[in-house]
Amino acid sequence: MIDEKEMVPYMAGEQWKSKIGFILAAAGSAIGLGAVWKLPYVAGTSGGGAFFLVFLVFTLLLGTSLLLAEFVIGRKTQKPPIQAYKELAPGTPWYWVGILGIISSCLILSFYAVVGGWILTYFIRSLTGGLTDPPEGNYGILFESIISNHWEVGAAHLGFIVITILIVQGGIQKGIERASSIMMPALFIIFIVLVVRSLTLDGAMEGVRFFLQPDLDSLDGQTILFALGQAFFSLSLGVSIMVTYSSYLSKKESLVRSASSIVGLSILIAFLSGLAIFPGVFAFDLEPNEGPSLIFTVLPAVFNEMALGSLFFTLFLLLLLFATLTSAFSLLEIVVSSVSHSNPGRRRIAAWAGGLGIFILGIPSNLSYGLLSEWLIFGDIFFNQIDFLVSNILLPVGALCIAVFASYFIKRSELREELLRGSSLGSGFFSTWLVLIRYITPLAIIAAFLHVLGVW
Ligand code: PHE
Repeated sequence: MIDEKEMVPYMAGEQWKSKIGFILAAAGSAIGLGAVWKLPYVAGTSGGGAFFLVFLVFTLLLGTSLLLAEFVIGRKTQKPPIQAYKELAPGTPWYWVGILGIISSCLILSFYAVVGGWILTYFIRSLTGGLTDPPEGNYGILFESIISNHWEVGAAHLGFIVITILIVQGGIQKGIERASSIMMPALFIIFIVLVVRSLTLDGAMEGVRFFLQPDLDSLDGQTILFALGQAFFSLSLGVSIMVTYSSYLSKKESLVRSASSIVGLSILIAFLSGLAIFPGVFAFDLEPNEGPSLIFTVLPAVFNEMALGSLFFTLFLLLLLFATLTSAFSLLEIVVSSVSHSNPGRRRIAAWAGGLGIFILGIPSNLSYGLLSEWLIFGDIFFNQIDFLVSNILLPVGALCIAVFASYFIKRSELREELLRGSSLGSGFFSTWLVLIRYITPLAIIAAFLHVLGVW
């Protein structure tokens, strides 16, 4: 039952308590599996430093511009996505961009929570000693046996979703902001400890070189495309999540300053994550191009070789859990805010119904590695296809729509006012941003699509 008194803090118009709380929550959404799981393995399989360099350029130019566009839409209207697009373009179908964002977020969370569950299982096993002695000394076999064990990964998948629901139902300040303000600083501290440990291993430099020295010959269309998708994915763009988070931001704060902090923190973590992972992989002569299972099969082997390795691995898993959870909060929040915006009393029920619905949606992804491993859709398992659909189709389409909407359908004077509010930047900055969001971002996304379709 919803207690009348408890409803008060979730009244419509709820805001982040502090600017730093907003930055930590938004950086928490951005920093997640993208930076800590996907970036290292994609960099590992597509040319190391060259990939990272292209990713950096896309993040700084296109990612930041799009982040600002989402912020302008959210903060200007102070409404969740569907309502925000409706307010800015009444009587037009643009609100479908909000609906698309919600659908994409549910799909992302459906497989995100499966990986969250793997991390939770690994974390619990690492505390109870269940990771130290893999069958035949091979972590690959251990990973396979864990992820194909339906009951264990099913329970962990559900456990991950329930933690997400419990936080999101608490509201913006008492749920997401409070949890992010604990988890994000903890994540930074653990990262620093791990990077120091990793860089002091014998032979660490080879890994650093692999990660940071760009071998431009290994750049091809495919790598550039991945880097573009990765830049959007790892800033949580294209699904209106940043519209949602900024709708709770006070009109006093500067969007530009907040966006720079968020992008800066995400890049820092992407960088630290490569530095935490590759030196160990090279120091112990393992393969950097292991693919998605890199952190589950190669890293335990790395940590196993180190003094106090199991302690460091447990810390790493805790870090991953925090990174994944803070992203999951944002993916559920977009659903919850859309349903409970006009009636805050519905937040709790929306969080449970949405979260459990997404859990059910994720079951086929979870079983893709066990019972359903033979069930191929266009030649690949369900889990990979959902990831592909979201990362390479829905997210870029959403990003394209948001860039076009913000730059062509909101009045120039209104855009300018909201973007520059509270900042000392002037017309030069505004015009540059407009060129990036109006021409360069849409062109880059369209070029990427044409490439996927084989047109060039
Ligand atoms: N940014 C998150 C990550 O890198 C993933 C994400 C994408 C979250 C889109 C929300 C929206 O892991």
